[in-house]
Amino acid sequence: MIDLTGRTVYVTGAARGIGAAIARTLASAGGRVGLLDVDAERLAATADALGPSVAYAVCDITDPEQIAQAAARLQRALGPASGLVNNAGRNAYADPVQMTTDEWEEVFDVDLKGAWLMARAVLPGMKAAGGGSIVNIASLHASQTCRGMFPYAATKAGLVGLTRSLALEVGAHGVRVNAVSPGYIETDLLTEYFGHHPPDVRKAALHKHILGRLGTPSDVAAVVAFLLSDLSGFVTGADWAVDGGLSARFD
Ligand SMILES: NC(=O)c1ccc[n+]([C@@H]2O[C@H](COP(=O)([O-])OP(=O)(O)OC[C@H]3O[C@@H](n4cnc5c(N)ncnc54)[C@H](O)[C@@H]3O)[C@@H](O)[C@H]2O)c1
Repeated sequence: MIDLTGRTVYVTGAARGIGAAIARTLASAGGRVGLLDVDAERLAATADALGPSVAYAVCDITDPEQIAQAAARLQRALGPASGLVNNAGRNAYADPVQMTTDEWEEVFDVDLKGAWLMARAVLPGMKAAGGGSIVNIASLHASQTCRGMFPYAATKAGLVGLTRSLALEVGAHGVRVNAVSPGYIETDLLTEYFGHHPPDVRKAALHKHILGRLGTPSDVAAVVAFLLSDLSGFVTGADWAVDGGLSARFD
């Protein structure tokens, strides 16, 4: 039902997990999709499986020069971006006292600064075209968090703040900016998370979701596709929970 024909959307962290599912969903909806990731091998495999309406660029989203090169490559292949999904991210498991400033910056560069750098690269084209849509993949951790993941919640809360701030700055140009905050989604990153916690944490996570299951990457991708489409034309500056109801409960 969502039609993205004629749209070009760049998706970061698209080699696997939620980003790959987003790329797949957007391509199925008729969009041209530019995939970006640091993992060259997986990126090529994911893009190759999606067919002719996609292109890819190996890119570390913390590096402005790599972003400029990747954006130029994708623009040549697919045209300027009318949509951007800032999905690339990493977890953090630091101790607030032991953590070094370099480690702090590594986390914030990927989970927060990269989203601004990517937006900075595509916004001139969106403004010139008179519109666009940016979706930032934040997290449930933007509003609630758990022990042992310092300072992940700070980066994701920052990303929701960036979403609001950017929405205000670019709304007059017809550009919408929204966040999506997933709960537990079955990806390699979640496997890594469970590896840092005792075995009963997975069972507890299942119980916390009102819908009685963990989320899938496709669950997130469907909401992202909606936010990129004209169906959400009056939605900006918002943070959409895709968490099976987890954030609605107290017990
Ligand atoms: N899986 C979950 O339960 C969950 C929950 C809430 C939020 N999220 C968020 O969703 C997003 C995707 O998560 P996922 O579970 O698919 O993770 P994932 O680890 O499976 O995939 C992340 C992708 O981002 C890429 N990446 C990492 N650093 C990068 C960089 N500097 N430049 C370019 N690409 C980079 C990785 O190579 C990888 O392909 C992340 O922002 C994550 O914080 C995930």
